[in-house]
Amino acid sequence: MSSTHPAYLVFIGPPGAGKGTQAAMLEKKLGLKQVSSGDLFRENLKNQTELGLLAKSYIDRGELVPDEVTIRMVQDRMQRPDCDQGVILDGFPRTLEQASALDAMLASQGSKIDLAPVLTVSDDELIARLTGRRVCRNCGATYHMIFNPPRVEDVCDACGGELYQRSDDSLETVRNRLYVYYKQTSPLIGYYYAKGLTTFIDGGQAIDVVKQALLDAIQTALHGK
Ligand code: AP5
Ligand code: MG
Ligand code: ZN
Repeated sequence: MSSTHPAYLVFIGPPGAGKGTQAAMLEKKLGLKQVSSGDLFRENLKNQTELGLLAKSYIDRGELVPDEVTIRMVQDRMQRPDCDQGVILDGFPRTLEQASALDAMLASQGSKIDLAPVLTVSDDELIARLTGRRVCRNCGATYHMIFNPPRVEDVCDACGGELYQRSDDSLETVRNRLYVYYKQTSPLIGYYYAKGLTTFIDGGQAIDVVKQALLDAIQTALHGK
């Protein structure tokens, strides 16, 4: 994307803000790879790896998976060749420890974060979004029963796969995920604000409106006005 170094974007926002929905729509348009720590954990769980089973015990409670394993998993993923042009990070970093590890890794490659868009959405809206979310078992595409329904009920538009509800999208776990976000992840807004990297986007708008606002902000950050 950028002529001098690969582009790195960090999407920040509470659970349900639309990080995954937007990253999936923008990755092709921007020529960047979406790297979602949550998706990586779920892939590991599907393959019954040791990491997946460890992560499950935290995910089911809505708690964060320990930094050490999370950082290693994301760093390994970012070294793969499909990330050469740059990455949209979705759900990582989530702690200050993860944010400094990411900075150190990028600095060692002569790179840096270009922009950290923050998606803001009210708690009521987040709860409605998460409890109505459905995900494709096969390709991971995300839908919402009311706000973004598939053409055929419970069937993925993209691949025909079966849609399911994430086990951590129950009301009780969603409440704890929000609590964990405000306590452990929201300090990252200050961390990136101090570096001049934040841009605040009203994530409560329609999916296409949010997409355009993100695109405008990202293109300005990467190529100037
Ligand atoms: P993760 O999978 O990252 O979950 P999350 O941050 O809780 O975020 P979500 O995926 O729930 O929300 P999203 O912002 O991607 O929203 P989406 O686009 O799907 O993490 C899961 C767990 O893994 C964590 O709890 C933790 O245990 C662990 N984990 C992950 N990363 C970690 C890390 N770095 N460190 C430690 N632990 C980690 O949209 C939500 C719904 O809303 C969808 O139904 C969608 O269709 C709908 N929607 C989206 N946009 C709109 C809109 N504009 N209007 C109406 N509806 C919309
Ligand atoms: Mg997500
Ligand atoms: Zn699918």
